[in-house]
Amino acid sequence: MAKEKTHYVCSECAGISPKWLGKCPHCEAWNTLVETWESPAGAGKNRYQASALAPSTPLSVLSDIKASELERIPTGQDELDRVLGGGWVPGGVVLIGGDPGIGKSTLLLQALDHLARNGTNALYVTGEESGPQVALRAKRLGLLGSPVQVMAETQLERMVAGLDSSPHRVAVIDSIQTVYSEMLSSAPGSVSQVRECAAHLTRLAKARGITIILVGHVTKEGALAGPRVLEHMVDTVLYFEGDTHSSFRLVRAIKNRFGAINEIGVFAMTEKGLKGVSNPSAIFLSQHPEPVAGSCVLVTLEGSRPLLVEIQALVDSGGPNPRRLSVGLERDRLAMLLAVLHRHAGVSCMDQDVFVNAVGGVRISEPAADLAVLLAIHSSLRGKPLPQGLIAFGEVGLAGEVRPAPRGQERLREAAKLGFTHALIPKANAPKGKIEGIEIMAVDRVEEAMSWVRNHPGS
Ligand code: TYD
Ligand code: MG
Repeated sequence: MAKEKTHYVCSECAGISPKWLGKCPHCEAWNTLVETWESPAGAGKNRYQASALAPSTPLSVLSDIKASELERIPTGQDELDRVLGGGWVPGGVVLIGGDPGIGKSTLLLQALDHLARNGTNALYVTGEESGPQVALRAKRLGLLGSPVQVMAETQLERMVAGLDSSPHRVAVIDSIQTVYSEMLSSAPGSVSQVRECAAHLTRLAKARGITIILVGHVTKEGALAGPRVLEHMVDTVLYFEGDTHSSFRLVRAIKNRFGAINEIGVFAMTEKGLKGVSNPSAIFLSQHPEPVAGSCVLVTLEGSRPLLVEIQALVDSGGPNPRRLSVGLERDRLAMLLAVLHRHAGVSCMDQDVFVNAVGGVRISEPAADLAVLLAIHSSLRGKPLPQGLIAFGEVGLAGEVRPAPRGQERLREAAKLGFTHALIPKANAPKGKIEGIEIMAVDRVEEAMSWVRNHPGS
C-alpha cells in the first residue's frame, strides 16, 4: 500500500512545509508546525475549487457593478446590533471568540431564539453540548417553546445536509473546533480540519445567502485557536471580553466588513442570560459616600461611546525595592508616568509602592488615561481627595506636556450629563463655547495640573 503523504502546517500562518522544522519558514514562528495527513479530496480537476470564497462573476467595470445596500437581520439585542453594524448580513460569516464560560453560547442561543420567534428559519448546531443540555440552557434562559432548530452534530457533511434540508437563513456552529470533515484524515480541531471546514462553510454561506456564525475557542494567550487564516476568511470577527468575576461583558469587533470596528457592545450576565446595557457610561464608577483620596474619574472612549471609569491609586511606603503594579492599565506606562511626575512636577514616589487599578475589570489602552492616573497617584500620596465632581483625561508626554485626546467635546458632554462639575483637561481640548454644568480647567503641562489641584479650595 502506498504510504499516505503527510506534510506540516504552521498553526500561526497555515504555511505548508514538506518536513518538520523548528521554525516556520513562512512566518518565522517557532515550534508551530503540526503534522497533517491530507488525502486530496477529488484530486485533479477540482484542485483549485477550494481557493475562492466568494462566487466568481464575469469581468466587469467597477462603476457598472451595483453597490447594493446590505440587507440586515436584527439580532434582537441592540448591543449586538451595534457591534455588527446593524444586524446579521445574509451570506455574512461571523467568527466569535472568547474565554470558556464567558457567555458565547448563551448570547447566540438568545439571538437565535429571537430570530426564530420572528419567523426566520434558524439553526443551532452544537458540537460541544448535547441536545438536552441546550434545552436545559434554554429553560434557564426562560425561552419556553422556542422554535429554534437544534442539531447535535460534528461532521461537516452531515451538517451541510442538515442545512440543505430546510431553507435556513441563520446558522450557529458551536464551535468550529469540534467540526471535522470525512474528506480529511486529520483529527478534529487540527489546523487543516478547522481551516477546511471553515472555508467550506464560508463558501456555503456566500453561495446560499445564509448567515453563518462560527464560535471559536481562544488560546491561553487570548488569540483564536487554530490558524490565523480563519480571521482572514470570515467577514466579521468579534471577541468577548470581561472579567468572569464581574457580571459585565464587552463584545468588541476586531474586524468587520459590514460596519465599524472598535465598536463595543456592553452586556450584563444575569440569572436569565445576557442583557444589553444601553447606557454603560456609569457602570465602572464605584460609589463613595464621601470623597476618598487616590481616586480620579477618567472619561475614556470605547468605540463611539464615552465611558466613565474610576482610576484608583494607592501609594504606600515600600521597602528597598518598591513595587509598581497596575490592573487594567499598562505597567510600563505607569513607570514612565511616575518618572514624568518626578521630573516635571517635582512629586517623588521613589521609595514608595505604587498600585493602580481601573475599577470594574475594564482594560484601558488609550494614553488619554495618563492625566487621571497621575492625579490619582498625587492624591493618594498627599492623602487628600481630589475636588468633588472632577473628571480628567489627557495624554502625558515625556517632556511633561499634556496632549489632547480625540473627541474631547463628546467626553466633556457625557461627564456633564452624569453630573460632574469640574474637568481637568488638555488645553487643546478646551471647548470654544461653554458646556452647561461643567467648569473647565485646561492645562498645557503636568505641573500646572498638579498645582491647580493643590491650590483648589476643596482639596
Ligand atoms: P456559556 O454561554 O456556556 O459560555 P461559553 O459558551 O462562552 O463557554 O456561559 C456559561 C456561563 O454563564 C456559566 O458560567 C453560567 C453563566 N450563566 C448565567 O449566569 N446566567 C444564565 O442565564 C446562563 C444561561 C448562564
Ligand atoms: Mg459554549
